[in-house]
Amino acid sequence: MTQQQWTAVDEYLNGVLVGEDAVLTAALATSRAAGLPEIAVAPNQGKLLHLLAVTMGARRILEVGALGGYSGIWLGRALPADGRLISLEIDPKHSAVARANLHEAGLEKVAEVRTGRAVDSLAELVDDGAEPFDLVFIDADKPSNPDYFRWALKLTRPGSLIVIDNVVRGGAVADAQSTDPSVLGVRAMHELIAAEPRVTATAVQTVGLKGYDGFTLVRVIG
Ligand SMILES: C[S@@+](CC[C@H](N)C(=O)[O-])C[C@H]1O[C@@H](n2cnc3c(N)ncnc32)[C@H](O)[C@@H]1O
Repeated sequence: MTQQQWTAVDEYLNGVLVGEDAVLTAALATSRAAGLPEIAVAPNQGKLLHLLAVTMGARRILEVGALGGYSGIWLGRALPADGRLISLEIDPKHSAVARANLHEAGLEKVAEVRTGRAVDSLAELVDDGAEPFDLVFIDADKPSNPDYFRWALKLTRPGSLIVIDNVVRGGAVADAQSTDPSVLGVRAMHELIAAEPRVTATAVQTVGLKGYDGFTLVRVIG
């Protein structure tokens, strides 16, 4: 299998099952025009997040890593009118694009983008006694994944779902000798998850438009 084939299959799947969406297409276009990196989730992955959130009846969603708001739109659209999406982003330019795109998607009443280091924003949410989130999507700097998982556990409840993106890294995650900080971050997070009795988890490898990668899914059970 080659990247060309993975892309062709993703294009087929996106065409037949996800479909074209003017708001999402525009969100990617404005992100590109603003010079943001093209590292948002693929359409079928965004819809997976959306379906997970809808299926579990999520009312409160936390996202770590907003970029231009693409996955935020998919997640925000899963919420009821009185739901809440809080998306954390370190880069003020990314935050501004995400806010504009979430507004264009009609999600300004449910979605909020908080600018700053995610670890600080997460600590602030805990200090403020934020209500537990039903779903947390972690998709920012991978070396910080262990910290993000720890904070996510504090900000969730039994029954919540934590989804972490980019956990396979082209297969590099299986290399126990790797010195890549992102690989080390993902592996350390998996060790934490494995040792944590309050969660149960699995991970799946994915191929497609975004190459060879994967998601870890964690259900909080206690
Ligand atoms: C992969 S992108 C997020 C993509 C987005 N979830 C989507 O699919 O549309 C990662 C984002 O995390 C942000 N980021 C990186 N380090 C961060 C940190 N320490 N705190 C908060 N955000 C951070 C980056 O600026 C970038 O916008």
